[in-house]
Amino acid sequence: MRKTIIAGNWKMYKTITEAIELANGLKREFFKLDFAAVDVVLCPAFTALSEVAEVLTETEIGLGAQDIYWQEEGAFTGEVSPLMIKDAGCQYAIIGHSERRQFFGESNETVNKKIKAALKSGIIPIVCVGENLQEREANKTFKVVEDHINNGLAGVDVSDIANLIIAYEPVWAIGTGKTATPDQAQEVHKFIRDLLKKNYGQDVSDNIRIQYGGSVKPENIMQLMERPDVDGALVGGASLKVDSFSAIVTKASEVVK
Ligand code: 13P
Repeated sequence: MRKTIIAGNWKMYKTITEAIELANGLKREFFKLDFAAVDVVLCPAFTALSEVAEVLTETEIGLGAQDIYWQEEGAFTGEVSPLMIKDAGCQYAIIGHSERRQFFGESNETVNKKIKAALKSGIIPIVCVGENLQEREANKTFKVVEDHINNGLAGVDVSDIANLIIAYEPVWAIGTGKTATPDQAQEVHKFIRDLLKKNYGQDVSDNIRIQYGGSVKPENIMQLMERPDVDGALVGGASLKVDSFSAIVTKASEVVK
């Protein structure tokens, strides 16, 4: 049995004051949430991490950063290390988000270094993979996802693999309102699970959690979650409001598989 995990990627939204307000609102909404049924993670901008961590003290809500650098410290202007986000209160880090691949030169090689650095510091990586529209239309979805997984995870210790989280985010579904159908999501999630089974064996493949991301909303979370290989969601736009994010989390927590 894999525990459902819903993460909110706040991207480059929310000042510190706004982030505290959103975190407080969610904390109130999740007061009665059954955390045995779902893991919840908030991923604010770096500037708001410490303050949001403060709000989340003594709750079961997790905290994640949206990126990290792979060095522990040094002359790397503008970068933030795994130890620094851990110090700010994080347990998770999103790594290899398609926006970073698209706009900031992130590659499978840098993703690989970041995953290893995160694991070394006890941070759980949420590793993003997924094809863009051109790749999907050229029938390259499986090839792209396979490259992201095989190269991104190259050399990572098998014992660490089951602890990380994979987020399948088809780029054409991000911020477009165009969600992958539950069948499309399931098809790729199953492909990823089978690939992990081939690479790391049955146990890892049975236990690793695979989130879906791309225009997840309260209206579509149930149908997505009902698919056997969809273990949660990485939510962008709908994670920025208390009502929509808490509805997604609550609905996801109620799906029994
Ligand atoms: P949207 O939910 O806004 O489509 O964003 C998805 C995403 O990129 C989460 O990381």
